[in-house]
Amino acid sequence: MIQIASKFYFNYSFFKTVFIVISLFFANTFCFAADAALKNGKLIEETKCYACHAKKSGFGNGDLIYTRSDRKVANYQRLKAMVAICNSELRLDLFPEDEADVAQYLNQQFYHFKIN
Ligand code: HEC
Repeated sequence: MIQIASKFYFNYSFFKTVFIVISLFFANTFCFAADAALKNGKLIEETKCYACHAKKSGFGNGDLIYTRSDRKVANYQRLKAMVAICNSELRLDLFPEDEADVAQYLNQQFYHFKIN
């Protein structure tokens, strides 16, 4: 009887451990992926977008184009569209993943739209 109980206990904790390890692994993977996207988006914004926005907006600060009171973008769909327009009109040659990363970064940093 005692033996059965301890066997059961061993199996239970074994599966619990496996479950926790698997959960942690996935949690980590998702966090790193999100983090990498935001870092990539930030880098692209700073190197390819910031200077022109600083100049063209007349503010001398490339961030203010995203936060000005009469900004053009009003939801996440429009944000993605605007990133795509700036990318293709200006021939910045971003890959679709990079466009997505920049949109995600701009949203996290400035716009705070709900992503649905
Ligand atoms: C050569 C200049 C130039 C470059 C480079 C550029 N943009 Fe723009 N961008 C503009 C101008 C000009 C506007 C303002 C358009 C308007 O007010 O109608 C703008 C507006 C925007 C807006 C809308 C801001 C708002 O809410 O009103 C977004 C978003 C944007 N750009 C994203 C980007 C991203 C991302 C990049 C880099 C991948 C980029 N742009 C590169 C010139 C540029």
